[in-house]
Amino acid sequence: MKCRPFVGLNLSLRLLVIGYVLVVVFFSVLSLHQMKKGAPTPAEKQARATLRPPSIPRRLISSFERGPFRPLRRWRIEWCAQLQFMGAQPGRPVALVSFPGSGNTWLRYLLQQATGYLTGSVYNDLGLSKNGFPAEGVVNRSVLVVKTHEYGSDTHRQFDKALLLVRAPQQAIQAEFNRQSGGHIGFASPDRYARSEGKFWQRFVALNLRNWERLNLDWLRNFPGPTHVLTYQQLVNDTEHALKGVLQFLGVAVPPRQLQCALEHKEGIYRRRSRVRRLDPFTAEMRAQLKAAERRVFSAISPSTNKRT
Ligand SMILES: *[C@@H]1O[C@H](CO)[C@@H](O)[C@H](O)[C@H]1NC(C)=O
Ligand SMILES: *[C@@H]1O[C@H](CO)[C@@H](O)[C@H](O)[C@H]1NC(C)=O
Repeated sequence: MKCRPFVGLNLSLRLLVIGYVLVVVFFSVLSLHQMKKGAPTPAEKQARATLRPPSIPRRLISSFERGPFRPLRRWRIEWCAQLQFMGAQPGRPVALVSFPGSGNTWLRYLLQQATGYLTGSVYNDLGLSKNGFPAEGVVNRSVLVVKTHEYGSDTHRQFDKALLLVRAPQQAIQAEFNRQSGGHIGFASPDRYARSEGKFWQRFVALNLRNWERLNLDWLRNFPGPTHVLTYQQLVNDTEHALKGVLQFLGVAVPPRQLQCALEHKEGIYRRRSRVRRLDPFTAEMRAQLKAAERRVFSAISPSTNKRT
């Protein structure tokens, strides 16, 4: 039997093998050439080490913020007013609570535009802290609100008041899937949904829907302090009215000109542009479960919730 390794391989595979061999040869020649130039001196080694970009410590990215880290595009945000910390205030901070993918970053952006005060977070997202949210990781009254995706009594105890931002689970979960796949303003490609025959996406929806309902019901039912509920839809439909309601709840007076400026810049840089291509990855069964959970949560938002201020 003759040894003919290429028999049985189709054309593209053959080209791939040939390409691989060429690349290996190229780099071998290259490294031989480098060796001829002699080993680098200690000074050269040092210079190379300092040139290497610093790596991002994983632990700085919280479990909720995990996923492919991508620096956001470096647009300069134009702020309506110079951002600053709030003066010394007694008491615990105000929580800005939401399930991930519910417009939390957008609301923080709008609040910073309108008030000029920085917003904090129980997380330390480096991408955000370098792009308009330098008070990431600050959890005290020196910031206007503190972002959290957490729930439970230990979390409640950290805060005096809560601003709860609720988005319908179907949109929130898809937005969160996009974020984990493509960064804060990116999109998940269709093959992401097809991963392991769709089982990955199925589990993602089931797990996140459970957490979506738990988080929202826990804050609605068990948080003892004043609570203001805002839906993402309200924020989109009538940004001015929604923002005014939040500012009133926070007790911050904003000059009309600055509010006007914030509204003129309301698009910001953190909203995912809605795409013409509508990808609907939800099955009928998923959609029924999403709707049922949505009804349970939205019916727990009583009209009186926003009067407990
Ligand atoms: C708030 O927290 C930050 C960071 O943890 C700290 O630097 C700052 O001094 C604190 N401010 C107040 C008023 O407690
Ligand atoms: C938002 O606007 C749409 C269309 O105008 C309307 O159907 C919907 O009820 C509004 N939602 C809220 C929460 O105001």
